[in-house]
Amino acid sequence: MKKYLVIGNPIEHSLSPLIHNYWMKKYNLIDFIYEKRKVEEEDLGNIVDQIRSGELNGVNITVPFKKKIIPFLDKLDDYAKDTQSVNTLYKQFNGQVVGINTDVHGFSQSVIEKIKGATSRVSEHSGKNIFVLGAGGVTPSIVHTLSLANKIYITNRTKENAEKLKNEATKWGFRNIEVLDWGNKPQICDLVVNTTSVGLKREENLNLNFKEYKNNKNTLFYDVIYNPKETNFLKEARLRGNKTMNGKMMFLYQAQLAFDTWTKILPRIDNDTISLLD
Ligand code: ATR
Repeated sequence: MKKYLVIGNPIEHSLSPLIHNYWMKKYNLIDFIYEKRKVEEEDLGNIVDQIRSGELNGVNITVPFKKKIIPFLDKLDDYAKDTQSVNTLYKQFNGQVVGINTDVHGFSQSVIEKIKGATSRVSEHSGKNIFVLGAGGVTPSIVHTLSLANKIYITNRTKENAEKLKNEATKWGFRNIEVLDWGNKPQICDLVVNTTSVGLKREENLNLNFKEYKNNKNTLFYDVIYNPKETNFLKEARLRGNKTMNGKMMFLYQAQLAFDTWTKILPRIDNDTISLLD
């Protein structure tokens, strides 16, 4: 039996078991099982040891442990190193437990799909202006895909966290970031991304007014949240006539790369897969 887990706290709402078990069945991996487990911070070392010993074959990490898991790992991939965010663990041939970040891939693949003409993970934002709301756990994974943007504007309720992210990104070679006070907006941008947790509860609203985007069909308003399917941020954008996208495809693409890492099978994301999450 090969055993996989997603760990987090809370974890009840995770859809990772649904998607991974679906793919395991679809690709005839009959002795594979994927479960969710609520853990505490003090359990993290033990989870990593279970991968080392072969008791577990792979683990996904979700909130709030994507950074906290790092001290227990033997090795990180470059994205995980830069973003200090790990969402997938596996054991390498030499026994080392490696932490990788597949959220970066998840975000960039989902945008490629949406923006016409974009063909690769680096070209889709080339020369574009991008407005990023938030500077939380997932934000570095998004900003990391934006190296070719003309300009990245970041705003966060706690400005200091946006400044910290800008400093981190400078170490990756990014010179195109400007931090704005919360409530301020840049010129019209090509992509506006909500990376805050505002909207997870249906009634929540960012209270930022984007009325200058009325009837703008070019700008993509993207929310990393996928449950609820349409946050107020996206609803308002849709009613203004903007393009919108929620975090569902990002979730699927991050899962796809994790699955491929563990099984060497790149699962297809077809309509059946997409509708599983509806
Ligand atoms: P997670 O662990 O889910 O990534 P996080 O790292 O705390 O959570 O990030 C949540 C993000 O949502 C942060 O950018 C946070 O802003 P602060 O840095 O000021 O905390 C943002 N956020 C949460 N509640 C918010 C609110 N009511 N208004 C604006 N931003 C909010």
